[in-house]
Amino acid sequence: MKDMHTISGAVSKDRIHDSATKHVTGQAEYTDDIAEPWGTLHAYLGVSSVAHGRIRTMDLSAVRAAPGVVDVLTAEDIPGVNDISPTGRHDEPVFPTKLVEYHGQPLFAVIAESRDAARRAAELAEIDYVVLPHAIDAPAAEAAGMPMVTDPLTLQRGDVATGQAGAAHRVQARMVVGGQDHMYLEGHIAFAIPGEDDDVIVHCSTQHPSEAQHMVAHVLGVPSNAVTVNVRRMGGGFGGKESQMNIFCAVAAVAAKRLNRPVKIRPDRDQDMTATGKRHDFVIDYDVAFDDDGCIQAVEGTFAARCGYSSDLSGPVTDRALFHADNAYFYPHVRLVSRPQKTNTVSNTAFRGFGGPQGVIVAERMMEEIAYTLGKDPLDVRKANFYGEAGRDLTPYHQQVEDNVIGRVVDELEASADYRARRAEIIAENAKGGIMRRGIALTPVKFGISFTATWYNQAGALIHVYNDGSIHLNHGGTEMGQGLNTKVAQVVADAFQVDFERIKITKTTTEKVPNTSATAASSGSDLNGMAALDAARQIKERLVAFAAESRKVAPEQVEFLPNAVKIGEEVLAFDTFIRQAYMARVHLSAAGFYKTPKIHWDRAAGKGRPFYYYAYGAACSEVSIDTLTGEYRVERTDILHDVGRSLNPILDKGQVEGAFIQGMGWLTTEELWWDDAGRLRTHAPSTYKIPLASDRPRVFNVDLADWSENREMTIKRSKAVGEPPFMLGISVFEALSMAVASVADYKVCPRLDAPATPERVLMAVDRLKAGV
Ligand code: MTE
Ligand code: MOS
Repeated sequence: MKDMHTISGAVSKDRIHDSATKHVTGQAEYTDDIAEPWGTLHAYLGVSSVAHGRIRTMDLSAVRAAPGVVDVLTAEDIPGVNDISPTGRHDEPVFPTKLVEYHGQPLFAVIAESRDAARRAAELAEIDYVVLPHAIDAPAAEAAGMPMVTDPLTLQRGDVATGQAGAAHRVQARMVVGGQDHMYLEGHIAFAIPGEDDDVIVHCSTQHPSEAQHMVAHVLGVPSNAVTVNVRRMGGGFGGKESQMNIFCAVAAVAAKRLNRPVKIRPDRDQDMTATGKRHDFVIDYDVAFDDDGCIQAVEGTFAARCGYSSDLSGPVTDRALFHADNAYFYPHVRLVSRPQKTNTVSNTAFRGFGGPQGVIVAERMMEEIAYTLGKDPLDVRKANFYGEAGRDLTPYHQQVEDNVIGRVVDELEASADYRARRAEIIAENAKGGIMRRGIALTPVKFGISFTATWYNQAGALIHVYNDGSIHLNHGGTEMGQGLNTKVAQVVADAFQVDFERIKITKTTTEKVPNTSATAASSGSDLNGMAALDAARQIKERLVAFAAESRKVAPEQVEFLPNAVKIGEEVLAFDTFIRQAYMARVHLSAAGFYKTPKIHWDRAAGKGRPFYYYAYGAACSEVSIDTLTGEYRVERTDILHDVGRSLNPILDKGQVEGAFIQGMGWLTTEELWWDDAGRLRTHAPSTYKIPLASDRPRVFNVDLADWSENREMTIKRSKAVGEPPFMLGISVFEALSMAVASVADYKVCPRLDAPATPERVLMAVDRLKAGV
């Protein structure tokens, strides 16, 4: 960390997160830390107790009469439009008027003098329902004839029947892939402060301030210019705060305007888990045809997802599952279909990878199927199917893979992790027939970068240089722990050649940069870094023109040096130069803008270039399992990940490590479970198990591919890092599968659904032992 306090050239260097010290000392301010103005009230949601039903009567008199209660809000109290659907499908009311569509659905809000009073009062509603039949998962909903929440997508290339006819082997199977709760440390929260006229300021924890702004305006029935949404930072978002904050912002804002008092709403962890969406779980039917060498000839897949009661982001999420069902592999003939199934559960939403992981894992399962069928090392099957030269470089959505580095990444990792020798040793050891068995797997990832909604790929930034030479930086991205603010500030410090410390990082606010996109799709630094660079460029151009004119030198003779400016032979301190520019009336503020080039997508045709580029990576994991209990641990993981030319290697490594662990959690211990009544019973850390520090791999070697640079003109030739390494967790799943397979001498590919909890591992072992 020697660069921490050195100057300029700050980009592409290690630098700790700008808030790291504040995070660990408790000085970082979150929404709940904002000093409450006098008269602040607290809201809490009252929820349904049936999974599907019609409200016959809703008696809220006991709620209203409870101590400390000031007001109760229902659907009738929404002054504007009672809808917060993020995609404009009008299928997501703030509160329903008649129809209840999942257990735990918010039906009203209590506003009270204290949070405790509001929470206690919310329990006192007397609601009488006409109970209707419900369907909790995708197969049940399909069987019940429930509709899909949005139009399904088909991706198709070649002719599957031809590919199947020519293939020597074919495997057809079903895999169930579980969902995941976001488990951010800081839960949902919104704090609304009313102002004059229609004005309201909402402080909240959202990845998408502009959407929250537009939703609040919509629900209040006022123009967007009356609503300001502020986010200093989130204590984690992971996709769970892309659209799910809308209801909290709406409730706080409606109550604040109605009562003309500040209103805060913060659900407890149980309500945060039951009333906000999660990763979509999928039921996937795949059919893979391949030749004797393990080369795929044709792939067919149907991807049914539990979307919940409304569409939310399920359209783009299920689309992305299809976009990633190829992972790094070429399918000569392919047909993939999504089934975004409506269910009587909370509406599922974005989660790191945005459906991509559920596609990638199927590709990896097919590699394993092929390997077990042919008695090959799965790594050889993977290599045989990688995208390659012309003719083997087209994705199922007809985008050409032009920047393929998966071969090099995998070869280097195979060598550094000593994969072959360790696999041979593990097979020899397992052959001794002990109770403890081991497995090893090396899995790749290729992940497409860009929002598939093309218009989302835009960003803005605002830079002020004050006349003392200090710099104020604002951009449309939000900070959720990933280090976006640090990276964008590095870019600006580099542009002006000044100390990082000279750049003031400020809260995201809809007042400074309008019409922003969600900080999502891993594109935060790609988009906002470029927008900030554009703003810095404009100011620098004006400064150069001023310097050249005032000294009568050519613009080429003006140079930004570390904390100084060189004009001809004269060198001035940056501060002095800025002061002079101000006195000469140079405009020292600029708004920057960026839109991603080259991308386009025709969903109806299933063709286009939805992604600007791909990020690549690979992981090799070794596990051991106890065949008598199903318990396991990860002995070692080696990762080589491609972030292009890193903007900040230690932050990127942190992202790779965190994403891997979160991906591993998704596929191992994190299990969501609904009972027959449609109640989510895993609604707290007591019943929902995320990885602990002690669950990390015993040996954990993480490297960035330092030779990589983005062939596209991204910010400093870097690549997005937030989501792609999440899918490296699949190496743990496939290593577990190998350890299980050892009990039947690797003759069959274990039927293992995700998450592979110890219970599932034990059942898979027992099935193989019993030969069923
Ligand atoms: N890292 C931390 N610490 N906390 C988070 O909530 N979210 C992830 C990833 N890394 C997240 C994170 C998700 S889902 C995305 S899309 C990206 O960060 C968003 O930020 P970026 O676009 O700036 O990478
Ligand atoms: Mo990330 S799922 O795109 O917020």
